[in-house]
Amino acid sequence: MKNYLITGGCGFIGTNFIRHVLTIRPDWRIVNLDALTYAGNPSNLENLPSDLAKRYHFVRGDIRDGSILEKILSEEKFDGVIHFAAESHVDRSILSPETFLETNVMGTFRLLEASLKGWHALGKQDSFRFLHISTDEVYGSLGPDGYFTEQTPYDPSSPYSAAKASSDHLGRAYFRTYGLPVLITNCSNNYGPYQFPEKLIPLMILNILEKKQLPVYGDGKNIRDWLFVIDHCEALIKVIEEGVPGETYNIGGGAERENIEIVHLLCDLMDSRLGRLKKESSSRLIKYVTDRPGHDRRYAIDATKIKKELGWSPKYSFEKALESTVDWYLHNMGWVDSVRSGEYRRWIEVNYQDRS
Ligand code: NAD
Ligand code: DAU
Repeated sequence: MKNYLITGGCGFIGTNFIRHVLTIRPDWRIVNLDALTYAGNPSNLENLPSDLAKRYHFVRGDIRDGSILEKILSEEKFDGVIHFAAESHVDRSILSPETFLETNVMGTFRLLEASLKGWHALGKQDSFRFLHISTDEVYGSLGPDGYFTEQTPYDPSSPYSAAKASSDHLGRAYFRTYGLPVLITNCSNNYGPYQFPEKLIPLMILNILEKKQLPVYGDGKNIRDWLFVIDHCEALIKVIEEGVPGETYNIGGGAERENIEIVHLLCDLMDSRLGRLKKESSSRLIKYVTDRPGHDRRYAIDATKIKKELGWSPKYSFEKALESTVDWYLHNMGWVDSVRSGEYRRWIEVNYQDRS
């Protein structure tokens, strides 16, 4: 059996990763450490089929707490640590940056420290891996041409991306200084089931459903490179199983779209699902609102390295996977209701109140 410690497994990508990897790797066991912030939902991983559930163990804990990390990493022998836990929403980082520094920087530092101790205690096993999951936002903003490669200099724009950049540097430093087998991935925008409805795609799906305003920042022409979450998970499995310690791998879907295109696509998809007529098209709900400060114009990943060296490439087409994502939300309104707590309503009020 392989035994991995995962952090932040109750969030969007962590949930999809755990469900997917337990299904396709029957020899994996997972311990999921999550603090259960507003973005973490343990019920995402309840009701797993019994053959998966017996290989899954949940621990509530905070990566900022060095003592709990050391306890977990000394009690069990792990083949690696897969680090998803982070504060992940750019707009929240603009309004309240401090938690982003505490979790993304100090939390990652404490996890690296505890992992280093655990690795030493196990006799510095060659096969041990620390996978640090990061974002393309560390590279800053692109103009109309060009792509982010692994050599692109870091140039983060938001407190979120600056904190993630910082954690990437720490990961790299722990490899170079202490030899901890750290690998780093920088991925583009994910979409799919279980994404918290503060992010563009699920927010728009739910606002369309409820005939609420569709707030598009700025001129709506900012570009993101979209990747279905299961394609990201498959890339992470490749990196943990075949990646070279000390290396960085960019992951992206090659599906660049302007935000406004995505919103129109979602309006059309939802209208056809809900049987809404042309004359009451949801696109009339679109409202251009005040831009996000420091809003990066374009992200686009050059994924040549992971494709050539590890043989990964995305399998899902953007249009089809977006349709299946819409259907997932429509069929899982119970989940939506459960995550839209008082805290969620407060956030929507705070973030959108001054965007006229
Ligand atoms: P998310 O916000 O949905 O989930 C984050 C999870 O981390 C939650 O379960 C939360 O409870 C947990 N967490 C937060 N602070 C914690 C702490 N101090 N201790 C322990 N657990 C804590 O995030 P996501 O979208 O699933 O992103 C996961 C990772 O992938 C992040 O590191 C993010 O930077 C990176 N990433 C995300 C995307 C994307 O499009 N969502 C793209 C590239 C990289
Ligand atoms: O690129 C990877 C990153 O993608 C991850 O590192 C982040 O964790 C993840 O949140 C995501 O960041 P973005 O800022 O790109 O995602 P978000 O869904 O917040 O916004 C996508 C685009 O849509 C962005 O250009 C801002 C715009 N937007 C967003 C919201 C929430 C709107 O126009 N209106 C909105 O209401």
